[in-house]
Amino acid sequence: MIVTVDGPSGTGKSTVSRAVAQQLGLPHLDTGAFYRAATLAVLEAGESPEDANTVTSIVEEADIDQVDGTIRLNGRDVTDAIRQDPVNRHVSAVSSHPEVRRLLVERQRRWVATHGGSAVVEGRDIGSVVFPTAPIKIYLDARPEIRASRRAAERDMHLDDVAEALRRRDHLDTSRAASPLLVPKDAVVVDTSEMKFRDVVDLVISLATRGA
Ligand code: C5P
Repeated sequence: MIVTVDGPSGTGKSTVSRAVAQQLGLPHLDTGAFYRAATLAVLEAGESPEDANTVTSIVEEADIDQVDGTIRLNGRDVTDAIRQDPVNRHVSAVSSHPEVRRLLVERQRRWVATHGGSAVVEGRDIGSVVFPTAPIKIYLDARPEIRASRRAAERDMHLDDVAEALRRRDHLDTSRAASPLLVPKDAVVVDTSEMKFRDVVDLVISLATRGA
């Protein structure tokens, strides 16, 4: 069984998909972390995230993996480093390059295959591109102001700064040519704005267990 969970940040995507995976006894794959680790590799190499050819060759060489819930870049634990501001600012540029996406999508599919073939997979293009035939597709959404206030609370940051950063990332993720963030055509859309975390998890599990 593959459960895809797409949507923008601040919708509870990570927390919900982790909890769903745990409850269903499935592995959980965070594909955003792959794009984040690729971005960290580019920044550490001192290269421009906009330069498609250079970025692609860095990603080709980089060993990016999720191991026991931690993210590894060439064997190093980068779980915390990929959540810092420089990566937040540049990840949309890195993930906009079609070749980078091709490489990382291939690795994401391989990760699921080598972890038993069933998983809860979260991201932006999972139901549309990575696993288009998945039987259960969820798209989590929430009103922009709710998403920003969740993010600001999580990261102890100023609301206006978070709201502006989210707007910028939403714009880049939805307007890019290669696999933009969109609602997969057969996905169930869940607006989490007024929902408790537990209720979102229960809803996704009930959709998953009755085949959406
Ligand atoms: O989910 P997260 O906020 O960690 O994702 C970081 C960024 O990675 C997104 O803003 C998007 O640019 C990119 N991403 C993507 N495709 C995915 C997952 C993430 O392009 N499947």
